[in-house]
Amino acid sequence: MSDFDRDQYLIQQEPYYCPVHNEVAMYQAAYDARMPVMLKGPTGCGKTRFVEYMAWKLGKPLITVACNEDMTASDLVGRFLLDINGTKWQDGPLTVAARLGAICYLDEVVEARQDTTVVIHPLTDHRRTLPLEKKGELVEAHPDFQIVISYNPGYQSLMKDLKQSTKQRFGALDFDYPTAEIESEIIAHEGKVDKSTAEKLVQIAHRSRNLKGHGLDEGMSTRLLVYAAQLISQGIDPQSAARMALVGPLTDDPDMRDTLDAAVNTYF
Ligand SMILES: Nc1ncnc2c1ncn2[C@@H]1O[C@H](COP(=O)(O)OP(=O)(O)O)[C@@H](O)[C@H]1O
Ligand SMILES: [Mg+2]
Repeated sequence: MSDFDRDQYLIQQEPYYCPVHNEVAMYQAAYDARMPVMLKGPTGCGKTRFVEYMAWKLGKPLITVACNEDMTASDLVGRFLLDINGTKWQDGPLTVAARLGAICYLDEVVEARQDTTVVIHPLTDHRRTLPLEKKGELVEAHPDFQIVISYNPGYQSLMKDLKQSTKQRFGALDFDYPTAEIESEIIAHEGKVDKSTAEKLVQIAHRSRNLKGHGLDEGMSTRLLVYAAQLISQGIDPQSAARMALVGPLTDDPDMRDTLDAAVNTYF
């Protein structure tokens, strides 16, 4: 594969990432060992941003695949396509990443069916190979190739979980919402609001996170706080911004909406 192919997956500009614990050093060491890494944590807490930042820092191409339940092994590995000259093989994103030496990020991997997930097995152990059965080729992964998956333990159910034989191929990095101080800094930066507005948004989020398991499946994510801040910095009044970005997406239950609206009103 050419340099052009590789370069198009390089991240040109440093992504804004605020470290929360020692995750940068831990990831770097895991990458140096080419250890497959699993990022665990609730939605919207910074997992995707972190991978983008690490790919930039390491200077490696990044290929991201958003997993879903309709995804098949062929969607990852590749398939024969028909064109005017007959059939032509087209590599899937996992194969491209293995050939180029990219970091392959499988986002929300539990969404994929288990028979899809097993295709990553030979890439995650000493073999570092990917058999393209339909094509009759064994791809040897480029030395720079690494696989990263993300998953949200909160959504786990017996039906939807990774097999132990898959899980135990990865080192795990736990992600959670940052401390109030760091999260306010992120909101102020990403949403372009002043520090005091950012702090209030974070306080509201903390109230909602305490309701997790008490009527809410999840609290307000960092992502939603960024949305609210962005609306406020567009000139929208904070209460309307909070209703649109923080309360609406979280619940349809009228009582819970009242509870969350009340939390918003204590701060704005
Ligand atoms: N540690 C962080 N540093 C910088 N931005 C962050 C951080 N955590 C969250 N964010 C912000 O929150 C948004 C959502 O994060 P994202 O990485 O997409 O979440 P996830 O992949 O965990 O669902 C990002 O676009 C970014 O604006
Ligand atoms: Mg993500």
